[in-house]
Amino acid sequence: MEVTITTLKKEHLKNIFQLIRKTVESTFQREGFTDVEIMNGEIDRINKRFETLAENSGESKVLVALVNTRVVGTIGIDKLSESFLKIFKKTKLKVDGQKIIEICLVYVLPEYQGQRIATKLINQIFEYIKSNKYSYYALYSGYADTIPIWRKFFGEEKCMLKSYFADAADCYIWLNKIN
Ligand SMILES: CC(C)(COP(=O)(O)OP(=O)(O)OC[C@H]1O[C@@H](n2cnc3c(N)ncnc32)[C@H](O)[C@@H]1OP(=O)(O)O)[C@@H](O)C(=O)NCCC(=O)NCCS
Repeated sequence: MEVTITTLKKEHLKNIFQLIRKTVESTFQREGFTDVEIMNGEIDRINKRFETLAENSGESKVLVALVNTRVVGTIGIDKLSESFLKIFKKTKLKVDGQKIIEICLVYVLPEYQGQRIATKLINQIFEYIKSNKYSYYALYSGYADTIPIWRKFFGEEKCMLKSYFADAADCYIWLNKIN
């Protein structure tokens, strides 16, 4: 299977919205989250971020993984989102005055997971991060199943907020210096 990594273009958005619905539905099911309203809110929030990032580049960048012309995976970097700033306020991590970039929008279609597509996307986005003047990168996740995967890529989390998203959904936070 040949996977091509390229920069997000507006013409990818329709395909991405399908990818996000499928991937988030499957993730919620796997995690045992049953609230459809929360799931739809999450899908809308993610799709809006893709739309915004497709409009203006600024400090952000989104990469998509294509098989033929189909988008099967995504990754982004962006300035810290409002949600992330709220999370940081609840931790003791010091982020003021640092040039921090958030790694976000990491999604791979369920039927393509486990085939190193996220690995390719992460490696490629790091080329970009390292060639720019960021001091730290950060990411957060509330999906228990993905925590071992993030630990492989980014080491141990810096902290965890118990039951941040819901009773059974903790928030894990990574904040690492860029070498
Ligand atoms: C998390 C996700 C992006 C990973 O994508 P992927 O393409 O399947 O990941 P890769 O195939 O590149 O695997 C990366 C590493 O994690 C490992 N891995 C994959 N699934 C794993 C699991 N369930 N438990 C432990 N390790 C796992 C792989 O073996 C690989 O490690 P290796 O290189 O040492 O073998 C994908 O599973 C996904 O989209 N999940 C649902 C959405 C999500 O949670 N997104 C993040 C929002 S915060």
